[in-house]
Amino acid sequence: QKAGKLLFRFPLVTVRGTPLMCHIADNFEKIWAFNPHPSDLLIATYPKAGTTWTQEIVDLLLHNGDSEACKRAPTPVRSPFLEIFSPKPIPSGLDLLEKMDPPRMIKTHLPFHLVPLGFWENKCKTIYVARNAKDNMVSYFHFDRMNQTQPEPGPWECYVNKFMQGELGWGSWYDHVKGYWVEKEERNILYLFYEEMKENPRREVERIMRYLDLSLSDDVISRIVELTSFKSMKENPMSNYSCVPAPVFDHTISPFMRKGEVGDWRNYFSPEQSKMFDEDYKEKMKDVDIPFRDSI
Ligand code: A3P
Repeated sequence: QKAGKLLFRFPLVTVRGTPLMCHIADNFEKIWAFNPHPSDLLIATYPKAGTTWTQEIVDLLLHNGDSEACKRAPTPVRSPFLEIFSPKPIPSGLDLLEKMDPPRMIKTHLPFHLVPLGFWENKCKTIYVARNAKDNMVSYFHFDRMNQTQPEPGPWECYVNKFMQGELGWGSWYDHVKGYWVEKEERNILYLFYEEMKENPRREVERIMRYLDLSLSDDVISRIVELTSFKSMKENPMSNYSCVPAPVFDHTISPFMRKGEVGDWRNYFSPEQSKMFDEDYKEKMKDVDIPFRDSI
């Protein structure tokens, strides 16, 4: 029991201003030194913004909609998580990447300023997905309940404050979405929104396809849209994170594929919380004009 406890609910350690899981912080120099190949693709998000969904779309696009090919392994094996480090013997993201040939689909939650410079020096394509703050926070709250490697979320009222103060793993949502937004032209980053993907998945799949310089048939695009619906991905053992069983991900507390909707925040924020959050949001986001929508 004691040893089990030691392995879980890792504390956060601040690296260059950003709180990260202690094992990531301890290995940060190795992560920072990672040198990607120019053909590698980076998929960057604040946690719970639609990473897994985007990874699945990209993998299917790269495999011309071949669903069997995309069931060759679970998401984190097909598309390694750059900065993840866990106690041995669990392989790190860097271990997995080392064993793969480029082009690789690399996932990261690092804020822009912590992304290894090699990605920009090598002009790697980068897809950033952003999700409105309130839904993003609700999703993160449930994830922190079920993911036993993350700090305890504590009660919802306190969680809202931690989110607003940027005290959760990978730091401030506000700085994260802004960091990539201001760099998107200079670094040729495709900046997507979860809400737009929900509203018109086909349009967004086609946008990603063009960004990857691919041209697939209408039928294949339709198939990809179908295979990456919330329902299909929830049922697919290679995309629903059933590969990470309890006690690490306790899907009985909250499944990884939880709801997949826009506007679930209304079931969590009281009117007072929402007002307080909106006022603070206005202040924090006043220097940028990012077209977020919290309903569709
Ligand atoms: P909810 O907790 O709101 O349901 P990430 O992959 O970045 O960890 O994000 C996980 C969130 O994306 C979860 O949100 C999950 O349900 C949602 N999600 C995953 N696949 C999806 C899909 N195909 N369509 C819509 N939402 C999806």
